[in-house]
Amino acid sequence: MKPVRVLGIAGSPRRSGNTDLLLAEVMRGAASKGAETNTIVLNSLKITPCQHCDACLEAGNCRIKDDMQMVYDKLEKADVVVLASPIQFMGLSAQTKAMVDRCQCLWARKYVLKIPPLGSGPGRKKGFFISVGGTKFTKLFDGALTVVKALFNTLDITYAGELLFRGIDEKGAITGHPDALEKAFRAGQKLVDDFAGE
Ligand SMILES: Cc1cc2nc3c(=O)[nH]c(=O)nc-3n(C[C@H](O)[C@H](O)[C@H](O)COP(=O)(O)O)c2cc1C
Repeated sequence: MKPVRVLGIAGSPRRSGNTDLLLAEVMRGAASKGAETNTIVLNSLKITPCQHCDACLEAGNCRIKDDMQMVYDKLEKADVVVLASPIQFMGLSAQTKAMVDRCQCLWARKYVLKIPPLGSGPGRKKGFFISVGGTKFTKLFDGALTVVKALFNTLDITYAGELLFRGIDEKGAITGHPDALEKAFRAGQKLVDDFAGE
């Protein structure tokens, strides 16, 4: 059987920060179940914000030739997408939101051109969201969750769950949480088990 392909998308500007550490554990858990894992770091990529040129309405392709072209390819090939972003000003990080907006061409494929948003890549994709915020506001994750669910829905990726932690601010503070990293590892294992079991 082919290994489950898990794509990690690190959306924080901070390397080895809290969402990075959680993402690494999810990917480690997935790998422990035989998954093929690959993580991309958005902050290291050149992703120009969507210019709303509407070129994608013609054929569903983005005319901006930057690193997002590689991201489209990876999204197409992935079985499971694990997106990690810290909360910044009550929403996704700018790095993550830029990537999300550049998925407008995939929205155009689905809703305008009526073609599958991620081409002939693996079907029945699953998506998982990781986030952390420094405060403990009740509505801390509402904005980010709305956007991530809209993204996954547009890309025909089934929302498979989330790991959200409030009150985690300093770099690496997540390591002081009683069970966050363990939960992340187990979430990675479960994502692969569930995908392979369906
Ligand atoms: C520009 C910026 C905006 C932020 N906005 C919020 C916010 O609105 N609410 C909040 O609880 N924390 C906010 N934070 C704190 C981060 O969410 C927190 O430090 C988190 O642990 C960072 O995760 P990371 O290490 O993965 O980047 C913000 C941090 C930055 C740098």
